[in-house]
Amino acid sequence: MSKIALITGANKGIGLETARQLARDHGFTVLVGARDSERGNTAVDELKAEGLNAEFIAIDPTDAESVAKAAQEVEAKYGHLDVLINNAGTIVDGDFAPPAQVETSVLRDTYDINVFALHEVTRTFWPLLEKSEAARLVNVSSLLGSLTAHSDGTLGDYKVLAYDSSKAAVNMLTTHYAWQWKNTPHKANTIHPGSVKTDLNKQGDLTVEEGAKTSVDLAIIDADGPNGEFFHLGQKLPW
Ligand SMILES: NC(=O)c1ccc[n+]([C@@H]2O[C@H](COP(=O)([O-])OP(=O)(O)OC[C@H]3O[C@@H](n4cnc5c(N)ncnc54)[C@H](OP(=O)(O)O)[C@@H]3O)[C@@H](O)[C@H]2O)c1
Repeated sequence: MSKIALITGANKGIGLETARQLARDHGFTVLVGARDSERGNTAVDELKAEGLNAEFIAIDPTDAESVAKAAQEVEAKYGHLDVLINNAGTIVDGDFAPPAQVETSVLRDTYDINVFALHEVTRTFWPLLEKSEAARLVNVSSLLGSLTAHSDGTLGDYKVLAYDSSKAAVNMLTTHYAWQWKNTPHKANTIHPGSVKTDLNKQGDLTVEEGAKTSVDLAIIDADGPNGEFFHLGQKLPW
């Protein structure tokens, strides 16, 4: 039986391409997570037309009821989950203001999807992941969440307070999930996809094909692969 992967925010962008590569290149059955059933089903139709094993799963990561329902569906149909990719995320309007002027509501709205929702999905699917022989959890973060890259000047003047700090939180959550899985066959890592041209980042210089690669790489790591680390295209990134 093929392995089962759930990708949140998979109706477009990096998430959709991650689903495609996992199904096409690695034989996964992919559960295409989307909050909107029309957008999700359109994405699934596209993958099915390419001959891939893809199914729509309704999941709004910010809505605990929706997350619980999605987990019940996966449990009833498959009894376990091999790969969870927490990919859904965004930059909220108002986040490009000077850092100290960003409205607190922008932080709240950003953390709601990028941090709290990611944790809700992770904690809800955790028991199903632990029923896998070797689960892989991949959290889609950003180099913008690196404290080192902000403090050593690598990121220059690019400062998006709520988004950057939310991704730093994602990195910290990941180290803790990974700690919980030490001495188990399961692994949790966090990734930077690159600056990828999507609706989120119109200036991106990588294609979605390139942008999905790091999520896919970490979803298929074997038993001696990393746990609790931060990657971009095979390179370890600083926290
Ligand atoms: N593109 C880049 O350069 C870049 C760089 C670093 C990290 N990332 C990360 O990569 C991930 C994917 O981004 P992308 O570039 O592929 O963006 P995208 O094309 O805009 O896709 C974002 C996905 O997340 C979902 N989403 C956004 N806000 C949501 C909310 N409030 N509630 C539920 N779902 C929500 C979207 O669903 P709807 O279609 O329903 O809105 C969509 O499926 C994100 O975590 C992002 O932070 C991207």
